[in-house]
Amino acid sequence: MSSETPTTSLENLSREERRFPPSEEFAAGAIATADLYDRAAADREGFWAEQARDLLTWSTDFTQTLDWSKAPFARWFVGGELNVAYNCTDRHVEAGHGDRVALHFEGEPGDTRSYTYAELTAAVKRAANALQDLGISKGDRVAIYLPMIPEAVIAMLACARLGAPHSVVFGGFSAEALHSRIEDAQAKLVITSDGGYRRGKPSALKPAVDAALAKGAPSVKHVLVVKRTGQDVEWDDARDVWWDDALAAAAPEHTAQPMDAEHPLFILYTSGTTGKPKGILHTSGGYLTQCAYTHKNVFDLHRDTDVYWCTADIGWVTGHSYIVYGPLANGATQVIYEGTPDTPHQGRFWEIVQKYGVTILYTAPTAIRTFMKWGEDIPAKFDLSSLRVLGSVGEPINPEAWVWYRRVIGGDRTPVVDTWWQTETGAIMISPLPGVTAAKPGSAQVPLPGISADVLDDEAHSVPDGGGGYLVLTEPWPSMLRGIWGDDERYQETYWSRFPGMYFAGDGAKKDDDGDIWLLGRVDDVMNVSGHRLSTTEIESALVSHPKVAEAAVVGATDDTTGQAPCAFVILRGGAEQGDDIVTELRNHVAQEIGPIAKPRQIMVVAELPKTRSGKIMRRLLRDVAEKREVGDVTTLADTTVMDLIKSGMSTSTES
Ligand code: PRX
Repeated sequence: MSSETPTTSLENLSREERRFPPSEEFAAGAIATADLYDRAAADREGFWAEQARDLLTWSTDFTQTLDWSKAPFARWFVGGELNVAYNCTDRHVEAGHGDRVALHFEGEPGDTRSYTYAELTAAVKRAANALQDLGISKGDRVAIYLPMIPEAVIAMLACARLGAPHSVVFGGFSAEALHSRIEDAQAKLVITSDGGYRRGKPSALKPAVDAALAKGAPSVKHVLVVKRTGQDVEWDDARDVWWDDALAAAAPEHTAQPMDAEHPLFILYTSGTTGKPKGILHTSGGYLTQCAYTHKNVFDLHRDTDVYWCTADIGWVTGHSYIVYGPLANGATQVIYEGTPDTPHQGRFWEIVQKYGVTILYTAPTAIRTFMKWGEDIPAKFDLSSLRVLGSVGEPINPEAWVWYRRVIGGDRTPVVDTWWQTETGAIMISPLPGVTAAKPGSAQVPLPGISADVLDDEAHSVPDGGGGYLVLTEPWPSMLRGIWGDDERYQETYWSRFPGMYFAGDGAKKDDDGDIWLLGRVDDVMNVSGHRLSTTEIESALVSHPKVAEAAVVGATDDTTGQAPCAFVILRGGAEQGDDIVTELRNHVAQEIGPIAKPRQIMVVAELPKTRSGKIMRRLLRDVAEKREVGDVTTLADTTVMDLIKSGMSTSTES
């Protein structure tokens, strides 16, 4: 990991001086009030125990809130038993809410389907039986590679019901990336579809599964295939089963079995600082408690009247916690949308808000900046008056985008909650509370009640107000990751060794004069592209796996729309031809190895890379080049002329 200190300057972020307190009317009706902070501060564990008991239904009550004796391996709600899927489905039906809509599905081509809680429960029960018929039982891993369709939610809940941890792989990842995740988790079943709709066209998924399994994945016994697009698919009779056939043949009734609070719920792979993605492990009771708690309090969920919409894909943690587990545990009504914001027109999101009367919208700064570029007249054509809370997640939101979001989408009326968290934290950690906090555009501001965070300097001292450093979480929290799948050592090393006894998030942060926290982006070799997390080393590994590449360095350069964009510097092997063809070939190679999201925006063929005398690539200097800045201090370079060489070669680069 590089030890570069955060580079984004607070001055850039804090130009907006206005504060946005909630209206009196909003504050008066808000779910979360200021006393929540006091209650949590007075007795942190007691507070979480109360949340767990209030928000969830336990088959067996827990006897201890937190066991931290084997830190950093936590056990929350020790002795407690519950079934996560039961909490997200059956119990709402049993409480008389079976007719409430759980999901309004909007397909990209315009097809729609709604599921009430009774219908969702029935579908999950059948799917659980179908999985069982395919040999899946408690503890088996199931890989899910699906578009944003209701079956994705049903499949995840069916796994949870059986205690079979799911590993959802984003549909935009390549066969290669899917294969490595299937292998690492030793999945027994893959659930996929023939395809999904993307930008107005059917886009195939099953061929990637076939290709992944052809690379060798002996753990996989079956592939369950949802029919979505009707595309032709290759079929292996011994292995492949249609979802509809399996569900039709399955028994309709299924009784959920209680699981230990610490039973693994899912593995979700995310990019780290080394080439190999990490399988982040989450368990049941603590994870669901914090998902439900944050979803209710941060979004001010009034279950009977709100219509919630999170625009994430279930392939990312936001989709896990804030499409599946948080909202469904809370019995919310939500919209899920399959496609892109500009299909068939640039007003699609606002058309959906108007159509379903969406009241709470949760999206990413990248999307907001794209909408800003498209112009205010597009949302102005739709009735957005139903909206009452807006959320942002995935990357720092610049104050301009924050203010635009509130003014244009929120009618200058709605609170905006900028929510900081990570795959590893499982749920929101730092965020305003919409009925309490006077919001500051660009700042996530304060840890939620029950959460403890700080900003430390290099020597692990808490920085004073006005200072900058590294974000840490100073106390364990219920939805924290329980480890990295199969690699306890990497878990301790990655998160708990930089500042002993504290969780190191990998983000730079500042405290302003009020002590509010501003997130400044990653301080390690992880970049954030459109709110998607990618590792520079993972892209470098993909590049050097190409036979024509001798060496590669990748940096995340600032990008107006996507936040950051991968920019690559490559040294070709002797004899390899330079020029545009090689650049296109390498970009496609990265798409094939990882997925189209990882394609470098720019690839520069260079003769040398800037290295220190110990051979470490100085990415800071490459970032200067990629961002077209004056190149910084080069005195530690082994060869100080290298940067001149690279800059003079800039003209050979290709942008797309
Ligand atoms: O750098 C932070 C950024 O996204 C990283 C986590 O990425 P991932 O695990 O993919 O989860 C994304 C969705 C929770 C963090 O380390 N990040 C996330 N939210 C924010 C953010 N940076 C600034 N402000 C945020 N609100």
